[in-house]
Amino acid sequence: MVETEETLISLHSVGKVFHSGHGSVAALSGVSFDIRRGEILGVIGQSGAGKSTLIRCLNYLERPSSGSIEFEGMPLGSLDAAGLRTLRRRMGMIFQDFNLLKTATVYENVALPLRLLGFSKDEVTSRSKRYLDVVGLSDKFEAYPSQLSGGQQQRVAIARAIAHGPEVLLCDEATSALDPENTESILHLIASVNEEFGITVVIVTHEMRVIQAVCDRVAVLSAGELVEMGSLNEVYTDPKHPVTRRLLAGILPREMTAALVDKLGVHGSVYSLIFAGDVAGKPVLAETLRKFKVSANILAANIIELKKEPFGFLVVAFSGEEQEIRGAIAYLERMDVRIKKWGGEHEMA
Ligand SMILES: Nc1ncnc2c1ncn2[C@@H]1O[C@H](COP(=O)(O)OP(=O)(O)OP(=O)(O)O)[C@@H](O)[C@H]1O
Ligand SMILES: [Mg+2]
Repeated sequence: MVETEETLISLHSVGKVFHSGHGSVAALSGVSFDIRRGEILGVIGQSGAGKSTLIRCLNYLERPSSGSIEFEGMPLGSLDAAGLRTLRRRMGMIFQDFNLLKTATVYENVALPLRLLGFSKDEVTSRSKRYLDVVGLSDKFEAYPSQLSGGQQQRVAIARAIAHGPEVLLCDEATSALDPENTESILHLIASVNEEFGITVVIVTHEMRVIQAVCDRVAVLSAGELVEMGSLNEVYTDPKHPVTRRLLAGILPREMTAALVDKLGVHGSVYSLIFAGDVAGKPVLAETLRKFKVSANILAANIIELKKEPFGFLVVAFSGEEQEIRGAIAYLERMDVRIKKWGGEHEMA
């Protein structure tokens, strides 16, 4: 990970209104956040939330109706046509449906845009070869897109998007048309592009598993508004907005657990425990139960990976003397377990 604290792109109260025959749609309203140099930022939201509009505003394919976007402090609204061309050279973009030229070979799909950008003949050749090698398609130069799998086509699109040496890679639902296996390998490739070339990546998706596979931070969009943003750990540990909770429902079954807590009538003594990072691999709960006179009824448990780091989620009902339970909880906290009294989850979801 090459993430830094340095702001690369900042959005200030960005709004976008589309006007059509049927009236106007506010696709984005009051969206403000920073994109840090070197990070992989995920933007998640349901269909129509404004994700594509947002990502298209970043390279000014779409002009915000209000607010401003700055790239390294430079307001994009002040750029003329030449300035916008320069800006777009610093970015690359990939899409759900790959957008390859069907009548051109794999090699030509990468080489052609480089020629249009004015690279020399030698540079075009060396860059096309190098980046097709980076994406693992050295043996497919002469193939046509129709002869490739979806995953391979997206690899060509990635080579094309990064061959000119951009600083930012914008991905709009880049894995949505792929099966789980190809999704994983494309996400892996995007992560290695981020790491190897230090390219800042913005990933737009409607799938939480895409976010958790590669992103450093996540922004949640709902009906054109930014409703939550934070590191993966922050957002998975303590999702605040109902939309975020809903997106996480399949991964961390808070609602199901809430129903179980109600059914068992164990409200008072129920805690949610989060084991993130190193602590996830340790038998901390077993140790706690040995040290204190408490027993634990496990109501829910799941372990996932957040960007390759284990992240365990446990809901337990403790029973025993109050003092022993307090001791157990203090011990778990000392062992770096994030522990919280269970409650309210079902009301908020
Ligand atoms: N060019 C346009 N003209 C009119 N309305 C538009 C236009 N582009 C987007 N919209 C509207 O703006 C809203 C946000 O659209 P957007 O494509 O950004 O959503 P999204 O989050 O990318 O959705 P999806 O997950 O389905 O791709 C929607 O209500 C959409 O209908
Ligand atoms: Mg979209």
